[in-house]
Amino acid sequence: MAIKVHIEETGFLKTEKAVKKAVQLIRRGLQKDDVIRSLKAADLPVSPEDIYEIGRNRIKARKKFSTGSKLFFDELGLRYSTPEAVADYRARRLRCRVIADVSCGVGGQLLFFARYCRKVYGVEINAKRAIIAALNARAMKANIQIILGDSLSDDVHNLLKDSEVIFSDPARPSIEKVRTVDNLEPNPGKIVERYKDITEKFAFELPPQMPPERVNKWLNGEKEYTSLDFKLNRLALYMDGLARCDVSAVSLPSEERVTDQDEAVNIESTSRIRSFIYEVDPAVVKAGLLRNLIGRLGFEAEILNEDKRRTLLTSDDKQDSAFLRKYKVRQITNFSAESIKQALRDIGAGKVTLRFSLPPFKYWDLRRELENGLKGDRWVHLFRVGERAILAERQ
Ligand SMILES: C[S@@+](CC[C@H](N)C(=O)[O-])C[C@H]1O[C@@H](n2cnc3c(N)ncnc32)[C@H](O)[C@@H]1O
Repeated sequence: MAIKVHIEETGFLKTEKAVKKAVQLIRRGLQKDDVIRSLKAADLPVSPEDIYEIGRNRIKARKKFSTGSKLFFDELGLRYSTPEAVADYRARRLRCRVIADVSCGVGGQLLFFARYCRKVYGVEINAKRAIIAALNARAMKANIQIILGDSLSDDVHNLLKDSEVIFSDPARPSIEKVRTVDNLEPNPGKIVERYKDITEKFAFELPPQMPPERVNKWLNGEKEYTSLDFKLNRLALYMDGLARCDVSAVSLPSEERVTDQDEAVNIESTSRIRSFIYEVDPAVVKAGLLRNLIGRLGFEAEILNEDKRRTLLTSDDKQDSAFLRKYKVRQITNFSAESIKQALRDIGAGKVTLRFSLPPFKYWDLRRELENGLKGDRWVHLFRVGERAILAERQ
């Protein structure tokens, strides 16, 4: 069954009023049950328990969304909703006349499709989330048709017949040893089967931990790894009608790109530390495009260290790229607390960020130990390469 979700203006205004009240009461420190008891739920599209949950999440959403104080989220909806910079980028890349997001959640991505596409459908199988998506569409005055239903069903398929692009950011199990496409809901392969009579333009969000070879076992197309503020954030798969290359990486917010079509160059490994070290954006590493990036930039650099968490390059040249974090090397010493502390004092350091893998509970112990007694004002970054400590400053 597929139901078109429509929220009347009066229903929207009453819900908004109730959420505002819940936010006030939560802020005043009232307990959950007391907040719920004080809410009048008559004629609202969601229950008082839901209003409480939306109120709590509205407080949190302010940090994640510039429009967070207007939006509606349930707990999972907020956790899964696409960050604004990514959602805006994705919507521009998929700009078309009619788009259908067939697993829209509370509509984080959907609201951005509405900015760039003339007609937007959002399908959601979970009733509460479908209503919340409709509330969000109203809150942002976005013209979106929300459909409550299973996107793999005939009923929903029949409502989406004029779609030019089918997009899905499927739900994934929270714990999984190896990320695969098999456990995604709705399953991307099934979505393609279901809608291939309507369009050949499909785009999916996949777990970003998946390397390109693993994606290729299931589905073909451009695999685009996206980093947001130097952290791997998304992997989008653009299938046939939308692909521009085989693998790409894009850095947000700058939108700098590298693809497998940029000429790859050979890059040597070294143990000799030069004037600068460069951290490589994890999206480039995951995409397997480091050699293409170096080729595109025409950068004379060598690999100093590669491990699970980070790849470090070293060079005497200054290079600017959103995919590279540049550090000027100040001192190199043995990796022992005493020598590192002496080097930090010599440099005039006041703070030190540790840029090597160690368990989170050890991070602050070591950082406190190293910072103890420092009187300088320089902020130093400490890298570990084998038994050597590199003290460097961000450029
Ligand atoms: C990761 S969330 C989407 C988040 C969304 N992109 C955003 O930015 O807010 C995935 C959603 O897909 C929905 N879903 C799972 N299977 C579905 C199906 N067969 N049809 C429609 N929606 C489905 C889940 O209920 C969940 O809300």
